[in-house]
Amino acid sequence: MDRIKIGIVGCGYWGPNLIRNFSSCPQTEVVAVCDASPARLEAIGRNFPHLARVESLDRLLDLGLDAAAIATPVSTHYPLAERCLNAGLHVLVEKPLASTVSEARSLLELAARCGRVLMVDHTYLFSNAVRRIKAMVGSGELGELYYVDSVRINLGLFQSDINVVWDLAPHDLSIVDHVLGREPRSISAWGCAHADPDMEDMAYVNVDYDDRLLANFHVNWLSPVKIRQMIFAGSRKSLIFNELNTTEPIKVYDRGIELGEGPDERRKLLVNYRSGDVWSPYIEPGEPLQEVVRHFAACIREKKAPLSDGALGLRVVRLLEAATRSLRAQGGRVVLSNGYHGASTNGVVDSRAGGPGQLPPDRAGRPARPKRRLERVR
Ligand SMILES: NC(=O)c1ccc[n+]([C@@H]2O[C@H](COP(=O)([O-])OP(=O)(O)OC[C@H]3O[C@@H](n4cnc5c(N)ncnc54)[C@H](O)[C@@H]3O)[C@@H](O)[C@H]2O)c1
Repeated sequence: MDRIKIGIVGCGYWGPNLIRNFSSCPQTEVVAVCDASPARLEAIGRNFPHLARVESLDRLLDLGLDAAAIATPVSTHYPLAERCLNAGLHVLVEKPLASTVSEARSLLELAARCGRVLMVDHTYLFSNAVRRIKAMVGSGELGELYYVDSVRINLGLFQSDINVVWDLAPHDLSIVDHVLGREPRSISAWGCAHADPDMEDMAYVNVDYDDRLLANFHVNWLSPVKIRQMIFAGSRKSLIFNELNTTEPIKVYDRGIELGEGPDERRKLLVNYRSGDVWSPYIEPGEPLQEVVRHFAACIREKKAPLSDGALGLRVVRLLEAATRSLRAQGGRVVLSNGYHGASTNGVVDSRAGGPGQLPPDRAGRPARPKRRLERVR
């Protein structure tokens, strides 16, 4: 089969990474790039002079492509992906899939009707470290999982149309969805806006599962230092995934507590501390985005569903929407009672947890409206 002809839509910060990886993938050929900004196209032309450059999707769709990769602001994912699918293209959309649950669901249904691959670039699912974490959790090596704690903070790139939760939490939400493979029961988010009063730039997102398992994510664009760390803590062992440590990204700790009977009547429960080895499994180096593009190409060729398919994209958007409802309710817990895996509408804010319950529609879960009050300086 000939190489898959692909067009890249959106060539800002992330788009060039897609151009580079699709260009080096033996199964794909980047034919053209599309960006609404002539300045961005000019910059891309300097690094990739052989690529056709167009300013509109209409012109891109005239080029006889097989597929498109969309790396534009989140508020544009839905209209651009919809047009590409309707034009018969397979589509890779950057995370998060769309701005609302209903948009995400429409894309899922449209891709199924058109018989086209719809994949979301939840990049971490293709990292060797996350694969190893999934294998360790799945095999029971950590014992009963007690909690997941993630810190994803730095002086972040302020986005024009989404807050920090929609920007960074998709990474954590897709990782826990993949690794745990289970449905959360509720979500709560608490955040603050400093630079733009309508746009949270730091937040704490807390997801609760049945069975005494909690996940907490700290996402932040205002931190002076960059930290990318996740702890998966279990009854037998715990692991720390530090993405910034490229040689030893995972450390496994054979440490924890053991419960025993106390010596007398007054102190029935004894907590013993267990300290054992700390070790670092070998993780093969490799760029996850290269795996993303190879997997996308393989799914098109073999007509199979991607690992990060539209259904995963929808589940992540559903949690983001619920987290935004909780943010607006100042941390009120949103109960995900109606089927996490796609069929339901928004969760409801649990008024017992302090949320107001009813929110005006425009503040009921969508990211902030597109606007550009803050300019990013490259
Ligand atoms: N997977 C990852 O790890 C990862 C990392 C960073 C960003 N992203 C995602 O990539 C996407 C883009 O983020 P970014 O930081 O590159 O944003 P950006 O603002 O730097 O770039 C977006 C580009 O899209 C262009 N654009 C906007 N509307 C367009 C339209 N209708 N048609 C054509 N071009 C259009 C803009 O001119 C700009 O050049 C977002 O969805 C973001 O979440 C993913």
